Amino acid sequence: MKALVLAGGLGSRLRPFSYSMPKQLVPVANRPVLLHCLDRLREVGITDVAIVVSSERGQAIRDAVGDGSQHGLRLTYLSQEAPLGLAHCVQLAADFLGDDDFLMYLGDNIFASGLGELAETFRRDRPAVQLVVTKVPDPSEYGVAEVDPDGRVDRLVEKPKNPTSDLAVIGVYFFTAAIHEATRRIQPSARGELEITDAIQWLVAGGADVRAAIYTGYWRDTGRIDDMLECNRVLLESTEHRLLGEVDAASEVCGPVAIEPGARVVRSRIVGPAVVGADSVVVDSYIGPYTALGRGCVLAGAGIEYSIVLDRVSVRDVRGIHGSLIGRSAEVCLSDGDLARHRLVIGDDTRVEVVA
Ligand code: TTP
Repeated sequence: MKALVLAGGLGSRLRPFSYSMPKQLVPVANRPVLLHCLDRLREVGITDVAIVVSSERGQAIRDAVGDGSQHGLRLTYLSQEAPLGLAHCVQLAADFLGDDDFLMYLGDNIFASGLGELAETFRRDRPAVQLVVTKVPDPSEYGVAEVDPDGRVDRLVEKPKNPTSDLAVIGVYFFTAAIHEATRRIQPSARGELEITDAIQWLVAGGADVRAAIYTGYWRDTGRIDDMLECNRVLLESTEHRLLGEVDAASEVCGPVAIEPGARVVRSRIVGPAVVGADSVVVDSYIGPYTALGRGCVLAGAGIEYSIVLDRVSVRDVRGIHGSLIGRSAEVCLSDGDLARHRLVIGDDTRVEVVA
């Protein structure tokens, strides 16, 4: 079985980050979301993987992941001119996929409990398509599968107003080569995309064996900032306590905390689960639970918890930071002018919340 990973798209819900980097490279628990995806593929014995990247931002993904040899994979990159839909991605990959079965993975989705059982069920039963579904509290926000008691899909409905099922279709699909004709038979939707749900629905309508496998582990679409922070929280829960950097005698480190090589912690308190990236310096600061600090950061007189901090960020003399995602090389500091004023130098579509 091959795999097709979708790492193009606009990422409009993750602005401003998606202006300067593909959203699939934003780190969760200090590892880009896309690398978590590739880990899951390798675990189920897949080595031949094509990654769809946008022609505009694809180079950053090529630079970060390379030819895959470091990750035990053989990677092929496919460049997509515009985000024309998930079924368009399958068309783009037709030559790479040939007649092989494949797993399609949305590159911004995290499946923390692995795909082992799902892959085993597909390899054993080999239906034309195996969707992956999970129970959600509000199905009207998702593509929903109506499934009979034997797991056969009767119908797929996109964002139903009155859902008749609570099984949302989530970001991993198992396909046989039957999907290729289906992607050629459909028309673009109202939003101008070739929808994979339409292609699958075309197969269902033609009587093909389309099944749904229920995933009960932890899953998250990291397309929005709140989901990214929540996913970071869950993945940090399994942090292994390892102090590879320096921690001075005046500092306190408790709970599972990973301090990477070259990092220095001075007169500070770190309460895990938390990660301090390589070569970061933390002085007179507090790092609270569920914080992932990137590489080469400087925290001085800072206080931060439940946050993701990317590489080379500096935070000086600002405490009480919570639920934040801070981009690469950003600076957060106290103003040395009139304390009643806030000076903001921030990019498009940024969100800043201040206490009145
Ligand atoms: P989405 O998150 O549905 O789309 P998006 O990336 O455009 O995000 P937003 O809605 O915030 O603008 O896409 C799911 C995954 O599939 C994601 O990793 C991007 C990828 N994708 C492609 O590679 N090509 C495409 O044509 C589309 C629509 C998505």
